[in-house]
Amino acid sequence: MEDFDPLKPETLESPHEDYKRLRRECPVAHSDAWGGFWALTKYEDVAAAASDSETFITSVQNVVPKVAFTGRRPPLHLDPPEHTPYRRALAPLLAPKRVAGFEQVIREICNDLLDQMVAKGGGDICNEFSAPMPIRTFAHWMNLPPDQVEVLAEVGRRYNFAVQSDDERETKESSKLLYDMARALVQDRKENPLDPDIDATSSLLATRVEGEPLPDEMIVGTIRQVLVVGIIAPTVLIGSIAVHLSEHRDLQNRLREDLSLVPAAVEEFLRLYTPYRGFARTATRDICLRGREIKKDDPIALVYASANRDEEIFEKPDEFILNRRNIKDSVAFGRGVHKCPGAPLARLELIVALECLLSKTSDFEVSGPVKPTRMPEIGALSVPLKFS
Ligand code: HEM
Repeated sequence: MEDFDPLKPETLESPHEDYKRLRRECPVAHSDAWGGFWALTKYEDVAAAASDSETFITSVQNVVPKVAFTGRRPPLHLDPPEHTPYRRALAPLLAPKRVAGFEQVIREICNDLLDQMVAKGGGDICNEFSAPMPIRTFAHWMNLPPDQVEVLAEVGRRYNFAVQSDDERETKESSKLLYDMARALVQDRKENPLDPDIDATSSLLATRVEGEPLPDEMIVGTIRQVLVVGIIAPTVLIGSIAVHLSEHRDLQNRLREDLSLVPAAVEEFLRLYTPYRGFARTATRDICLRGREIKKDDPIALVYASANRDEEIFEKPDEFILNRRNIKDSVAFGRGVHKCPGAPLARLELIVALECLLSKTSDFEVSGPVKPTRMPEIGALSVPLKFS
């Protein structure tokens, strides 16, 4: 039984065409790929499943295809109540007030990377800008020492491209290096703790559950999780935005002339080009959904990218509409207990990145073949741009 084939070659828009067909003809779809999985494509079903963490758990598999080669990485790999202390330790450090303090450093990172591209009239916006930018930002957020920032930038870049190019050996190797970094960081913070209100590792180390500290390996797993969870989505989304603005020069110019429109534009880009196509859950019991029989233990992808183009929720869903009436219903950052705690940092990165790109150029356009990414992301992995 195969309703769609996620392994067939894709373009930037072709997955959206598939999801449109599935929403219409077969909204709870099955594919035989990667051992078989279900895909929920309607907004209502995706939002309901993401909000029901008892029936749809994440501790077995959190993406399709399953990429975890190593240990469990909280908070994404845990279900409540085990999930809660990890989430509580990280969330305040990612709250809007705390994150606002990073605006200046993000601007400096963006300007530095873009100056290098401007000097040579353009380049690959993903490889040269949107991949390194979130890694460097993240390194600051993690209070990494300066020499480690460059190490993370290099290993993070390798991991990012290995995962998206389906290079299993390189994914394993770079994942191991990220684990080594996480382990070294935990050890260092044990010896030299920082204020838990400003440092994620120290906050995890200070957390107590019924008087007991969190297990070391789970803290390492959390650091390893956050070392990468926030770096891939901005990379591919900024690539998709660059393609869209090359194809819609009127919008590119309008935003450049009035940068105050950028935050609303970013929100709509997050809906239109939702970079995390979907995260996975596993059914804890047999379920009948829209006439399909989902068995206990079946993997299920919640296709956020499809939900965000559901025509029953979003009017003219394939179009970019600035200040869309119900943009707050977007599920680009998920729903329920695993909803992205990094959304304020992600939004700030995207807004500053787009502002800098627009103000450092008077025009840009795609100047070569665009390479799309693949499951579980959706968007652009490589976008050559010509600046003027
Ligand atoms: C455009 C950028 C981003 C997008 C679109 C995005 C999207 C998401 C989504 C959809 C989830 C929910 C996963 C699920 O349903 O299973 C999630 C979880 C998560 N995100 Fe983000 N994210 C972004 C950036 C970030 C950043 C910058 C951080 C920084 C630390 C971050 C940290 C996390 C963490 C820790 C989780 C797991 C939360 C949990 O399990 O409780 N994300 N993200």
